[in-house]
Parts: sequence; C-alpha cells; structure tokens
Amino acid sequence: VFKNSTTASKAVAQEIAQLIKEKQKDNKPCVLGLATGSTPKGLYAELVRLHKEEGLSFKNVVTFNLDEYYPMEPDSIHSYVRFMKELLLDQVDILPENYHIPDGTLAKANISKYCNDYESKIEAAGGLDLQILGIGGNGHIGFNESGSLQNSKTRLVALDHITRVAASKDFGGLSNTPRTAITLGVKKIMEAKRVILMAWGEGKSNIIAQSVEGEVTNKVPASFLQEHNNAVFVLDKESASKLK
Ligand code: F6R
Repeated sequence: VFKNSTTASKAVAQEIAQLIKEKQKDNKPCVLGLATGSTPKGLYAELVRLHKEEGLSFKNVVTFNLDEYYPMEPDSIHSYVRFMKELLLDQVDILPENYHIPDGTLAKANISKYCNDYESKIEAAGGLDLQILGIGGNGHIGFNESGSLQNSKTRLVALDHITRVAASKDFGGLSNTPRTAITLGVKKIMEAKRVILMAWGEGKSNIIAQSVEGEVTNKVPASFLQEHNNAVFVLDKESASKLK
C-alpha cells in the first residue's frame, strides 16, 4: 500500500526496469503483459521518462496487451492500439514486431483461431514474465467479467453492463459503447510468472477487499489471484481502505 498512485506507479516502473535490465544482461527477451484504462497511465508515463531521461532501452521487450474492444478500428480514438501507441509504444524504442494487441477488425469467423494463435505467440515468446493488471468495479481482470472460469481461454466476450457504463463516458453514451471485446483468458494471466494488479481510489476499495479477503469465486475473477504463487496488489491508501 503506497501513499498515492504516483509513488506506487514509480515503484512498479522500477520493478519493470529492473526486470528488463536483468533480461538484457542474459540476452533474453522480457515478456510483459500490459493493460489499458486509467490505472496504468502513471506507470507508462514513468517508463517513458526512464527511457527518455535515463536511457532504459525496450529493444529486448516483447509485449502482449490484455484486450481490445470488438469491433474496433486501430486508428479510432477509442482503440487500445491507439492508447498504447500514444502512451508507451511510440515513445520508447520497442520494435514494432515485438508488441501485440488483440485485433478488433477481424471477421467474426476468424476470431477463435486468432485467439488461439495469440496464446501460441505468448508461449513461443517463453510465457509472460510479468502481467500488469487493473481491476474493474465488478472484479474483472482483462475483460474476464464475473462468471469467467479460471481456465478460460483468450476469446470474444460480452461486456458486463457495469463495464459498459464505466466506458460510456469515453464513448459519449451507452448506445455508442461496444458490447463485446477480445480478452486474454484467465488461464494465461494465471500462467504469468508474476502478476501485479494496480488499483487507485476509494471507488475500487470494495472490490479490492472482496478480491483479496473474500472467497475465491468466478463472480470476482480477480479473486483467482489469491491462488497465484507470485501475485501482488499495488494499492494507494484509498483503494486499500476497506482491507481488514
Ligand atoms: C484494460 C483492462 C481492464 C481495466 C479495468 C480498470 O486493458 O483490462 O480490466 O484494467 O477495467 O479500468 P480503469 O483502470 O480505467 O479503472
């Protein structure tokens, strides 16, 4: 628990920088699972600063984003492709062939094969060294909504009403907000060697308490992380305020 989201984001950025450098020394790729949304913005700003001001190189970094709305054009202001490029990928020296974000432009018939291939690419890269997560008000991780199974695969999902309401302010109303998305499944998240879930603000305090101290249940997919052997929740004082 950190005093605020800025110090927390900097600590997570330091851990990532350390991991990247260790892998560099061993001539190995550093495979990161990344999230979008408001939570990781401070983290990405700090990683960009470390690149620009302290020479942190991303040449050995391979990334896989958790999710993308479907359908979604990559150049839309709402796309997670655009979000990632603007906030991180275009600001550092990562090689374009090394980042991966689910494709929101696929024909429906091709999604299932695409999702299997996405998981195969993660495996071929050696698995996720570190998965960064935010958490939805309903306990979703990625877009694995309430009811998602612990062994769920990467797939097309229907977004919960509560998720769509949260997104609707960006989309200019609920009727413009996508109903579906492609998400990395819970299984691949749980296979990551380390998981860091970040959450800020009073609004997340109830779901954080349920995820950390409540029963492990598919009603709250973040609660599955209790069964991960190397997962941490990085919180500010407000989001941690309902923990015992
Ligand atoms: C985004 C994602 C979501 C968000 C969650 C929290 O890639 O996977 O699970 O992390 O909805 O969103 P914010 O950070 O906007 O509160």
